[in-house]
Amino acid sequence: MKIGNYTFKYGLSLAPMAGVTDRAYRALCVRYGAELVTTELISAKAVTMGDQRTFKLASLTEEESPAAIQIFGSDPAVMGEAAYRLMSLSPAMIDINMGCPVHKIIRNGEGCALMRDIDKAATIVAEVVKSVSVPVTVKMRIGMDENSLNAPQLALACQQAGAAAVTVHGRTRDKMYSGTSDCGEIRKVKHAVDIPVIASGDVGLTLTADEAYSLTEADGIAVGRAAMGAPWIFAYLIDDINGVPRREIRSTEKLSVIKEHIDRLLYFEGERALCQMRTHLSWYTKGLRGSAALRRDINTAVTKSDFYTLAEKVFEE
Ligand SMILES: Cc1cc2nc3c(=O)[nH]c(=O)nc-3n(C[C@H](O)[C@H](O)[C@H](O)COP(=O)(O)O)c2cc1C
Repeated sequence: MKIGNYTFKYGLSLAPMAGVTDRAYRALCVRYGAELVTTELISAKAVTMGDQRTFKLASLTEEESPAAIQIFGSDPAVMGEAAYRLMSLSPAMIDINMGCPVHKIIRNGEGCALMRDIDKAATIVAEVVKSVSVPVTVKMRIGMDENSLNAPQLALACQQAGAAAVTVHGRTRDKMYSGTSDCGEIRKVKHAVDIPVIASGDVGLTLTADEAYSLTEADGIAVGRAAMGAPWIFAYLIDDINGVPRREIRSTEKLSVIKEHIDRLLYFEGERALCQMRTHLSWYTKGLRGSAALRRDINTAVTKSDFYTLAEKVFEE
């Protein structure tokens, strides 16, 4: 897959996930083979108001190149200005969110609500494309509900407005994250446009990389929930794509990755890292020996050494 000047051998990307894909974690995914990573959705309005916390959330590190910053909003001028201002953080791409299903975002005509107004969505894309010198991509769902499956039309309008690629999550807004991702609907988008299409939904969960590629005919695949607490999934998926046995990633390696994640979260976020560390550690230890009892301890962990000790309990061989 090729987007702008970037070539992706396996087409493997990390799907943006609010509260999950922080910069420390994104860098770990890149180390294990994610070829493109994206920040969580960033409020365009907050960017234009110069909100420092939002800029911090959008910040990128050198280890995670190429990385896209994803913005959300509904005002084309604000989206264009936000994208322009975010160029100071040197993203490889700007991604526009047209898939967020959360009520308060939809109520403001943002996220997936843009799927209801293709003209406006295209105006936003055109405005952002005009404002930046990097490729602009769009992430959408397959529609708002079963009666309005319009991703092919929206994707085509985005292409005509200058989008360099689209990612399609194969669920409607109504479905949120339930049921299965509809690969057939993603395939329809692939057939409707010439720009690269990245398939999102269930990869690494109920779909293998090969199945995702063959069922959607997409150019790339995005991995979301399957990567929570498992940045090494990208290494496994690359082995799957190459048709070789999955490499062994020993507990000691996982433990050192988790410790590095904790260190870097603390470095980037200071005290505020506490909440994120609890969440990440819960995912890292999900389903492992003693994890139910561990969850209680995770919620009362406070210091770096508390987190280290808990991780050691599970991962030390
Ligand atoms: C906790 C969580 C947060 C998410 N946040 C975002 C987001 O900020 N922007 C976005 O475009 N999609 C977001 N998504 C959707 C994912 O990018 C992805 O499309 C979806 O989870 C389906 O892929 P999966 O089955 O691999 O998880 C989020 C999903 C989850 C589970």
